[in-house]
Amino acid sequence: MKVTVVGAGNVGATVADVLAYREVANEIVLVDIKEGVAEGKALDIFEKSPITQYDSRTVGVTNDYARTANSDVVVITSGLPRKPGMSRDDLIGVNSGIVKSVVENVVKASPNCVIVIVSNPLDVMTYQAHLTSKFPRNRVIGMAGVLDTARYKAFIAEELNVSVKDVQAVLLGGHGDTMVPLPRYTTVGGIPVTELISEEKLNAIVERTKTGGGELVKLMGTSAWYAPGAAAAQMVEAIVKDQKRVFPVCVKLEGEYGINDCYLGVPVVLGKNGVEKVLELKLTKDEMALLQTSREHVLAVMKVLDGMK
Ligand code: NAI
Ligand code: 2OP
Repeated sequence: MKVTVVGAGNVGATVADVLAYREVANEIVLVDIKEGVAEGKALDIFEKSPITQYDSRTVGVTNDYARTANSDVVVITSGLPRKPGMSRDDLIGVNSGIVKSVVENVVKASPNCVIVIVSNPLDVMTYQAHLTSKFPRNRVIGMAGVLDTARYKAFIAEELNVSVKDVQAVLLGGHGDTMVPLPRYTTVGGIPVTELISEEKLNAIVERTKTGGGELVKLMGTSAWYAPGAAAAQMVEAIVKDQKRVFPVCVKLEGEYGINDCYLGVPVVLGKNGVEKVLELKLTKDEMALLQTSREHVLAVMKVLDGMK
């Protein structure tokens, strides 16, 4: 199995590092546009392998897509991260051009791959990758929900002083402040979270989750990478190992949840074909209204992209 990661910055290098450490693929190719960056980080990860004991081989290249040929999965992290005061949507101008040119190269080199988008604004960059690649919807997907649910689960585990391993949750919508965590579908060791945490505290956790990316940007001056990198790697692992994991993933909706032609996060089954199945939840009126608000937000940014063509 071969995996390519485009963008050897904070997130891309973390994806490659986690994939190597977990021996998800024999060969992991890291690509960047800046001369030497991908080569250096891939070499550093390779030199770590005798210490932490893995046999995956990481290789770095500068814009050489021939070296990425016939990858099974390609993760795209290239693009600007946001700075304090910026929203993810502010990145559309620069990042849509980067994602478009990268996807053109990826498609030529690996016409059968599954593309996992990480670059922001996430839902709209996944749409951009779909427009450029013309791949079917199962093979152009975006990473956001795995990260956003991880934040939500971490805050719940901290509140209850329990293991993060026992928190199960799902979340819908776009990767922005309109995302929709679903307390009704959140359990802790099989117990509904609503029986364990007061409504007031749960609402505060939901709000913190929605702005979780911004909390980190404020602290660090740039966006996060450890959890985002591990989240993208977990999706790659599910695809490469055909694990049929159930994750919230950004995918083009074609009638599910009554929505057509919008990229949004929903629970899916992830396996060797990328999205194997979209799972439809029976939402309450209130949950559906929140999902519609998120859809409207993403659609508005999709229209900005359409207007740039
Ligand atoms: P970074 O600035 O550390 O790395 C980006 C890398 O992309 C740089 O090394 C840059 O040289 C490279 N790059 C730029 N243009 C390129 C091109 N045409 N071809 C190849 N490489 C190119 O940024 P970071 O922190 O790694 O974030 C990357 C992107 O991921 C940002 O857009 C950020 O907003 C997004 N992000 C998304 C998350 C999500 O949940 N979906 C979570 C965290 C970040
Ligand atoms: C995050 O949520 C910036 O999208 C990135 O950390």
